[in-house]
Amino acid sequence: MSLSLLHNANIISANPNPLRTSRIPSSISQSFASKRLGVAHISCEQKQQDSVTTDGTIDRRNVLIGLGGIYGAASVATGANMASASPIAPPDLTKCQPATDAATKLPVKCCPPTYASYEIFDFKPPPQNSQLRVRPPAHKYNSEQLAKFKEAVRLMKALPDDDPWSYKNQATIHCTYCNGAFKQTGTDVLLQVHGSWLFLPWHRYYLYFWEKILGKLINDPNFAVPYWNFDNPEAMSMPTMYLDPTSPIYDDLRDHDHYSALLDLTYTYNKANPTAEETAKVIEANQTRVYRAFAETSNNPELFMGKPVLAGEAVPTTASGNLENLHNILHMWSGPPVSPYYNMGNFYTAARDTLFFGLHANVDRLWDYYSRNRGYKVEFDQEDWLQASFVFYDENRELVKCKVKDCLTPQSLGYTYSVEKQDNAGVHRKYLKRRKAQKSKAKSQTLSEVSAFGTKARALDSTIRVLVPRPKVSRSKGDKEDAIEIVIIDDIQIDHTKPSRFDVYLAKPTGRLVSSDLGELVGSFVNVAHTHTGSGTEAKMVLQLGITSLIDDIEAEESTKLVVSLVPRLGEVTVGGVGITLLTTQD
Ligand code: C2O
Repeated sequence: MSLSLLHNANIISANPNPLRTSRIPSSISQSFASKRLGVAHISCEQKQQDSVTTDGTIDRRNVLIGLGGIYGAASVATGANMASASPIAPPDLTKCQPATDAATKLPVKCCPPTYASYEIFDFKPPPQNSQLRVRPPAHKYNSEQLAKFKEAVRLMKALPDDDPWSYKNQATIHCTYCNGAFKQTGTDVLLQVHGSWLFLPWHRYYLYFWEKILGKLINDPNFAVPYWNFDNPEAMSMPTMYLDPTSPIYDDLRDHDHYSALLDLTYTYNKANPTAEETAKVIEANQTRVYRAFAETSNNPELFMGKPVLAGEAVPTTASGNLENLHNILHMWSGPPVSPYYNMGNFYTAARDTLFFGLHANVDRLWDYYSRNRGYKVEFDQEDWLQASFVFYDENRELVKCKVKDCLTPQSLGYTYSVEKQDNAGVHRKYLKRRKAQKSKAKSQTLSEVSAFGTKARALDSTIRVLVPRPKVSRSKGDKEDAIEIVIIDDIQIDHTKPSRFDVYLAKPTGRLVSSDLGELVGSFVNVAHTHTGSGTEAKMVLQLGITSLIDDIEAEESTKLVVSLVPRLGEVTVGGVGITLLTTQD
């Protein structure tokens, strides 16, 4: 799979998917358009099983892992629920209840203000012939743009508290939909926009209306918010525009140690003042981390964007996709490291910090980048997603109901992102080169024995390294297109009210032996303090990370077993099991 730099890619003239707006950018990766399509799903009825592998290791209790088998994307709609779609709908705005701050466990007020009218209109996407607003990266925002942004935020902050446009009320929206201010209509299930396929569309709309209201306040319909381009080596730090204490876009409730620090997504380097060489290493690790999120998920949107959630279902908290997990790292990195983690480190308060919107603009842009890499093939061609809807207060002071199907591209909402160099292929080449150099050095390392995970749940208080059997070796190119290989970390237990994180590494063993080197980072489990939405029972937490292309990179396609390492980083975590399985591609 190649995620090559797209800007010079061949042009496809026809819109590859009629559900998408016709205003997609003209440069789309050709390679994705020719990708093999239409692999059937295996029924999601496949039973969970208690599986003991042939060598006696139990991958986990009541697992999803079919031995050597493939399980279809388990929660993807089957024929049955396609027929009777149950997309998430907006709440009854008159039935707001106290929300809960996860960190303090105290009730908090996150209800929307009183509106002049509760009449809800259908959202109408902007006319498709208007000029696109261009969101620039924060590190290149010019002084004129910055002056406008500051003025708009200042005006928003000056609005009275009961105005739905006020900065406070705009920030509270995030708490409303994360901390349980509403139940899903007609149920006892709390409405939650994190941890599922709702994450990206909901935040796209949230940011869209925030931007439109700011534009209205300064009378500039072309006003565009900046994005914190944290995947770009030039922007791997807190953007300086947010660091001026006298500015309306400043927020003091942050991790001040990170004001001048290099962003370190992978704990590659953990002290102040790194040397140039160390800096380069951190940057490369950051880029590789982002690269992996794309490379392993291109034909499985669930892994990138989050799993389905239907009306009436509570969100299983680890149905988050790789992009949401990545973004959680930025929340934690920006907010203070101590409880209650206000503002950015706690979803209750996160949107009070203007930096939140810079982070989310980039998350939104990365979703767009993912879509473009897939030739704008709709990620979930299911009514349960496309018809899912949210309600927002718009720039015309009206309540509007917005459907996922109307926000599938930034262009459909009248904006786009300035083109920045995003050379994932280059990142990958560099990574392979560095690996090769390392390999020639690593020969003399001592090896130690690794065993299976065992049958009991284990506390992750130190690094756990386990030998995990693969369902199939020597997978052909076709096999890899039909099913992606994933690591599953199962039955994860955490305290939801605290941040927690562990990282997952993969290495190729020699028999049962492995060197002390952890191998390659696959991804992370990252929890930002939030209100848990399970109705009484704890939702089962599972982390799934794609490893198909990584296995190629470490030349382990012939290995029957791989070494998975779980590295605790933050919080108390217990893990029930580790497995490797195959997941049918979604498209
Ligand atoms: Cu609603 Cu960055 O989270």
